[in-house]
Amino acid sequence: MKIVFATNNQNKLSEIRNILGSEFEIVSLHDIGCTEDIPETGNTLEENALIKARYVYNKYGLSCFADDTGLEVEALGGAPGVRSARYDGITDHDSEANMRKLLRELGDNNNRKAQFRTVIALLLKTSNQLISHTFEGKIEGHIALTKQGTAGFGYDPLFVPIGYQQSFAQLGMDIKNQISHRARAVKQLADYLKQLNS
Ligand code: IMP
Repeated sequence: MKIVFATNNQNKLSEIRNILGSEFEIVSLHDIGCTEDIPETGNTLEENALIKARYVYNKYGLSCFADDTGLEVEALGGAPGVRSARYDGITDHDSEANMRKLLRELGDNNNRKAQFRTVIALLLKTSNQLISHTFEGKIEGHIALTKQGTAGFGYDPLFVPIGYQQSFAQLGMDIKNQISHRARAVKQLADYLKQLNS
């Protein structure tokens, strides 16, 4: 079964290919010749994931899934959430600026509880219908007082998963990929697709 993953992020592609195995051919946006920057105009992670999956399905007629991730901090009412990539309000994906803003906003607040949440939206074309399904993966933890570690990306140096003493950026990719929000959402997607294919 061939399915488009609406991303060009090589880490995400290899993660899902490893989990799904050879039964599924997972292709990227680049592989189908989609070079546009798909706008993420939704107000929730669910909306953004669906917008991206629908964009590919409507334009290319191919089964597709898309993901969106946010860091939700309890004391900040769930922010940065759906705005995680551009929390500092100036540039997209400037992790250093985003982390500076997060530490500034939290100050010395004792409630540092946070979670990462990933939503995956799947649009699957079968012989007689279009199946639409969403999957969610999350991991709880807390925001450290200062940045710790250098591995990973985004907010990894500030996020300490529950049950651990080190940040995602200190734990490294092997441990992170076993317990992360994205790994959990991907596992659910994989179980769903495998059961459909059996
Ligand atoms: P995206 O939906 O995967 O593009 O993620 C949106 C933003 O959330 C990214 O720009 C990162 O700042 C942050 N983010 C997503 N996943 C992670 C993660 O696993 N660790 C740290 N930050 C992440």
